[in-house]
Amino acid sequence: MASLPDGEPAPQDGSLPNPDISAGFSAYVHIPFCSVRCGYCDFNTYTNPNFGPGAGLTDFPDSLAREIALSRRVLEGNGPIKTVFFGGGTPTMLDSAQLVAVLGDLKATFGLAANAEITTEANPESVTPESLRELAAGGFTRVSFGMQSAVPRVLSILDRQHRPSRVPQVVRWAREAGLEVSLDLIYGAPGETDVEWRASLEAALALEPDHISAYALTVEPGTKMGGQVRRGEISLPDPDMQADRYEMAAAMLEPAGYHWYEISNWARPGHECAHNLAYWRGSDWWGYGPGAHSHIGGTRFWNVKHPLAYANRLLDGASPAAARELLSATERAEETIMLGIRLAEGIPVPAATGREVIAGFISDELVDPASAFSGTLRLTLRGRLLADSVTRALWQDL
Ligand SMILES: C[S@@+](CC[C@H](N)C(=O)[O-])C[C@H]1O[C@@H](n2cnc3c(N)ncnc32)[C@H](O)[C@@H]1O
Ligand code: SF4
Repeated sequence: MASLPDGEPAPQDGSLPNPDISAGFSAYVHIPFCSVRCGYCDFNTYTNPNFGPGAGLTDFPDSLAREIALSRRVLEGNGPIKTVFFGGGTPTMLDSAQLVAVLGDLKATFGLAANAEITTEANPESVTPESLRELAAGGFTRVSFGMQSAVPRVLSILDRQHRPSRVPQVVRWAREAGLEVSLDLIYGAPGETDVEWRASLEAALALEPDHISAYALTVEPGTKMGGQVRRGEISLPDPDMQADRYEMAAAMLEPAGYHWYEISNWARPGHECAHNLAYWRGSDWWGYGPGAHSHIGGTRFWNVKHPLAYANRLLDGASPAAARELLSATERAEETIMLGIRLAEGIPVPAATGREVIAGFISDELVDPASAFSGTLRLTLRGRLLADSVTRALWQDL
């Protein structure tokens, strides 16, 4: 699992230098449990969740309640919450009643904005018609299913537990419950062919979801798949192949009515994920749960990773934050560029950026020339594949 960044110590009481969130904020809730760990996954999640008080499946929500109470003190009850995203791990390892109770606590503490978007991630095998109905009745508006692939062989390479036929079923149940639906796909699994990737895209499109995310498989060193690569049993995904797969996704999703609004995300107009847009636009959010990161008023802080360490801190009346970082003006500018350039809406040309840099982007076909001439940097398809080098070039002038 990835380790946490370094940073300066965070105060025991969780206090922040600038807790003003009068424009509202977003809430992320991390549920760190899964029934099986997929070989590629580097997220902060555990498969044997019997860690002790406040850190097991039944009483983990008590720890979240303690962190929500702490955040109320720190934020002085300001609100409302504009979006909530339950991620993991597998949030739907908890009962719907538990998830609804956590949402209810956030709502009672800070209020929810009108039409707040409330999402949970879910593995296809972890929901039923009843659990989805209960989520919708309890205020959830959206579910994001980890479909990953429609090909049994690829699902098995990825250690996924569901069969392809489960996905149409759960999408139907979610719709019947009145939830918006997003599907996550992964491309570039070891041995996956172009034909198999096309089949997964076709299968996802056939379900007419509101939103589709497509991620290039990344292989992290500490994972089971990382070990297989190290031992030479499988090879790392080839970057050119990954780029071709991305272009295939764009070529199939965009004519089907899914416009790209962030490099890895496509949506029907009006169905973009407001929570993720809030991250990329640099808004404030509080991340609840073990290992969750927060960003409030120019301070970044992150919680201890292990569920028991998290629960114990809160039981002792202390903040679960492991460390924090106060962003300098330059760091904030860097972050605005790195996140904003990923969006289809683009970013204003930074004041410090030289004309020759922009001319270079145009001649390399990385940004849309008309937008650049009128002061906005918007990536072309080629630019979306090379977003990191655009970011680095813009950082050099800051
Ligand atoms: C935090 S995961 C949790 C969602 C849920 N547990 C699931 O797996 O269906 C969110 C998404 O991240 C993507 N993901 C996770 N690890 C990845 C990796 N190493 N490379 C690419 N995508 C990854 C998957 O598409 C997954 O659906
Ligand atoms: S189910 Fe999701 S969070 Fe859990 S191990 Fe697999 S990819 Fe990671």
